[in-house]
Amino acid sequence: MQYDTLTTKGTKPSSSRKTITYDMKISHFSSVLFLLFCSNVVLHEFVAIVGAMPLYANSRWIVNGEGKRVKLACVNWPSHLETLLAQGLDKKPVTEIAKTIVLNGFNCVRFTWPVALATNDSLASTLVENHFRSLGLNGAIAGLRANNPIFLRLPIIRAFQIIVKILGNNNVMVILDNHLSKPGWCCQQTDGNGFFGDEYFDPELWLRGLTNMATMFKDTKNVVGMSLRNELRGPNANIDIWHKFMHEGAEAVHSANPKVLVILSGLEFDNNLDFLRQQPIEVSFTGKLVFEVHRYASSMGNAWEIGNPNVVCGNFMNNLMGSAGFLLEQGFPLFLSEFGGDQRGINVNDNRFLNCMFGVIADLDLDWALWALQGSYYLRQGIVDMEEVFGVLNKDWSGIRNSSFMQKLHAIQPPFQGPGCQEMSPYNIMFHPSSGLCVQKKSIRHPVELGPCSKSNAWIYSQQARTIMLKGTYSCLQAVGVGQPVKLGVDCTCSTSKWEIISDSRMHLSTKLPDGEIVCLDHSGSNGVIVTNPCKCISGEINCEPASQWFKVITSTRRIVL
Ligand SMILES: *[C@@H]1O[C@H](CO)[C@@H](O)[C@H](O)[C@H]1NC(C)=O
Ligand SMILES: *[C@@H]1O[C@H](CO)[C@@H](O)[C@H](O)[C@H]1NC(C)=O
Repeated sequence: MQYDTLTTKGTKPSSSRKTITYDMKISHFSSVLFLLFCSNVVLHEFVAIVGAMPLYANSRWIVNGEGKRVKLACVNWPSHLETLLAQGLDKKPVTEIAKTIVLNGFNCVRFTWPVALATNDSLASTLVENHFRSLGLNGAIAGLRANNPIFLRLPIIRAFQIIVKILGNNNVMVILDNHLSKPGWCCQQTDGNGFFGDEYFDPELWLRGLTNMATMFKDTKNVVGMSLRNELRGPNANIDIWHKFMHEGAEAVHSANPKVLVILSGLEFDNNLDFLRQQPIEVSFTGKLVFEVHRYASSMGNAWEIGNPNVVCGNFMNNLMGSAGFLLEQGFPLFLSEFGGDQRGINVNDNRFLNCMFGVIADLDLDWALWALQGSYYLRQGIVDMEEVFGVLNKDWSGIRNSSFMQKLHAIQPPFQGPGCQEMSPYNIMFHPSSGLCVQKKSIRHPVELGPCSKSNAWIYSQQARTIMLKGTYSCLQAVGVGQPVKLGVDCTCSTSKWEIISDSRMHLSTKLPDGEIVCLDHSGSNGVIVTNPCKCISGEINCEPASQWFKVITSTRRIVL
């Protein structure tokens, strides 16, 4: 069935571009129609770049063979757990999962693997069905039989290769991520997989695994990058040893497959790369090195929940720039290869973190990979059919978990800047992270309101004049009163047209009303209309929610689509 046709196509990757079809069988995915419309630009862009693989690093940007920016908008799809099979094949046909990835606007998958898969032949050649049976997963076997029967009879390594190929047939790029050595859930300080020399982490075996993986996929065009090791950590972590083995790993991958981007992770669960300031890594090749960093709410404990959200967001940004963001300034791409949160919206720590994180991603225009695709796992930490509340898909993989979360993600999928994206002289977008929408003024009859960022107007925020002008006009944003919609006016010298970026989060746009009251831009209603209200959470109070007033002024050079 689908598997047969797709693997046949997969033997001719050069023709795969013409084979993109939107199989109507998957139209029961609730978001299909919305997303087809919404991610049109992304899909179109991606179709255009496939022919220009491999990818390169040009200063901080990842570019294709024509020098045009390719923004990684990836989703993590784990294949490193005990089952060794990409999650969800018991829930939906693999081609349907691949198409769902595309329809939700992702152009790439961070596909995880354990060293054992690439070095233990008796394990890699075990049939999927036998392997699942040995783990007692009879329910998953029944699900595989219903949804992907051919996979039951495949050796584990063949299943891995075919999934990569099917992603390629759907124009999805793949980053192969060595997640750990011994298959299982990751990551703990002392799980024996944390650092070179730990109980299960034999550096020589790891190097062999990297070489084998790089060699296996050296002619697979959609494999665009390899990340050498996920979340190095633990009591044995050491900067000199990091340098020694990351250097060897990078050279091993590059000599086996010089086409892939070589992606290096830092220490402390990939939260910290600041040791590279003193001692940069040396490799024999150029234009292929990328660094990766991870961030979750829990990277700062429960600071988001107990602190003032503006202060915590400010600290978070300083920490991110200090420990990893400086690499952008040094001219390296920085890939935020894991971030995410509970998509049910019930975790205050996660909600506040995500609002801040989305603002940062848009501002820095980062390449990123969301954790994660899967609505559930075959087996995780001993629990069968465990739900993943960070997952894009719901538990039975029948649709997306939270469409309002996806709206935020869609805002950061297309690039704002970079080589080949300079279609207009720089202008500003006012991005509202908690909705994923942007400030726009559609016409004279419309209020100033939130709308899709792809249709944002070109604004110009001048720090000097403190005005927010509509580019190419004499009109500027003006406050009217507390709770009142803001308007576009032409008296741009009056105090209600002077806007300052305030608070530690740098996301409140404030102005002074004629009676002296300080107010901030706000979207507090549900109708999208932008008003001004007293500024929230500015002066250190806790248990307050400023996100309705968080607007990130970001720079864009992409074409305006009205
Ligand atoms: C390889 O995998 C098999 C399971 O198929 C396991 O019994 C064996 O211990 C593994 N070998 C190594 C060296 O880890
Ligand atoms: C989606 O997330 C929002 C918060 O971001 C939350 O209010 C809402 O309840 C969530 N919806 C579902 C279906 O979980």
